[in-house]
Amino acid sequence: MTAVKERSCTTLFTTVVGVLAVFPSLGVSAVATPTPREPIAPISAPVDIDARKLSLGERLFHDPRMSADGRMSCATCHPLSEGGTDHRSHVVTVAGKELLLSTPTVFNSALSARHGWLGSVESFPKLLDQKIQDRFIFNSDWKQVEERLSQDSSYAISFQSIYGSRPTAAAVGDALAEFFQSLRTTESRFDRFLRGDEGALTEDEKAGYRQFKSHGCIACHQGVNVGGNVFQRLGVFEDYFAVRGVDETADIGRYLITGRERDRHVFRVPSLRNVAATPPYFHDGSALSLEDAVHVMVRFQLGQQPDEKDVQLIVKFLKSLTGYYQGKSL
Ligand code: HEC
Ligand code: HEC
Repeated sequence: MTAVKERSCTTLFTTVVGVLAVFPSLGVSAVATPTPREPIAPISAPVDIDARKLSLGERLFHDPRMSADGRMSCATCHPLSEGGTDHRSHVVTVAGKELLLSTPTVFNSALSARHGWLGSVESFPKLLDQKIQDRFIFNSDWKQVEERLSQDSSYAISFQSIYGSRPTAAAVGDALAEFFQSLRTTESRFDRFLRGDEGALTEDEKAGYRQFKSHGCIACHQGVNVGGNVFQRLGVFEDYFAVRGVDETADIGRYLITGRERDRHVFRVPSLRNVAATPPYFHDGSALSLEDAVHVMVRFQLGQQPDEKDVQLIVKFLKSLTGYYQGKSL
């Protein structure tokens, strides 16, 4: 812990580069490479999406028959009209069980190298298997899902015409994966700026972006998703959990998966795309506003005293990361 606290910003950068080097799937092929000038790349519209698979996947995403008791669909916790998250600090499942993690958005998740707060899942099929089987999510299994969907004649027709089969686990997974790939938000003002439209950002937003880089936020939040591709400890310079109080199981971070002491309180750095539309913030949903979240970051991740004017400028920049989905701003 002491070693961590003593890290200077330079070693922090080195650490991040080190993490990048060991991060297996960082060269994610779907991700555009950052322009030589900027450490963040604009999001491009999804290509080669099969419209029929997409619309079938969209229907499945909203279908509560995916869950054992028929009351919960993916959209229950990830409503697309609400930024792809239920905005709860802790998910409450149908069974009344309160999960310890807040719900991240599904938008642009396909552009992140790893999924979930702990970054424990590296592929969509694996994520889907977990969702179906998780006792507190769908509490089901593929056999039950296949049987349920097969009873619906309109599904039978769609699956037959697209996949030449009944609704099998593979076909359901494929349609949902196609839909998942399409969940991108494009045309944010910041992306227009990156593409050369100087007038897309106000002077304050541009100043906020410069602060975001000069303060060192960019060391952890970079790439096409402004995050989503490295692991870092929450509380690099100061013990966040000692200050916040109450250490919950979920707070131990990647230690939960690896059992390695150095992974205690380490999380996947989340994407900041559309962050203005997805409060509350952090794995514990503890920050209710962007201002609160940036204060925590400046203090605990950068070891600096938050300067109110800088925080406001950074928040303005973060708001310019909100993009469009199906023609509507998130
Ligand atoms: C009961 C609420 C709930 C339901 C239902 C649910 N999710 Fe989630 N989802 C969560 C929570 C909570 C997390 C964070 C879990 C973690 O970090 O370990 C998450 C994480 C995710 C992520 C990772 C996002 C990222 O980039 O970090 C994706 C993608 C996702 N869910 C898609 C789905 C899909 C597809 C379905 C339907 C098959 C679904 N979810 C159903 C609550 C839910
Ligand atoms: C050392 C790496 C690191 C640095 C530097 C860093 N962050 Fe973070 N950031 C993280 C991690 C890790 C989380 C997730 C923590 C959690 O959920 O518990 C996070 C979460 C966030 C969130 C909440 C996102 C969400 O959806 O919940 C915001 C906003 C944010 N950071 C902004 C910033 C800003 C602005 C700066 C610079 C002032 C910054 N970060 C610097 C690692 C970093």
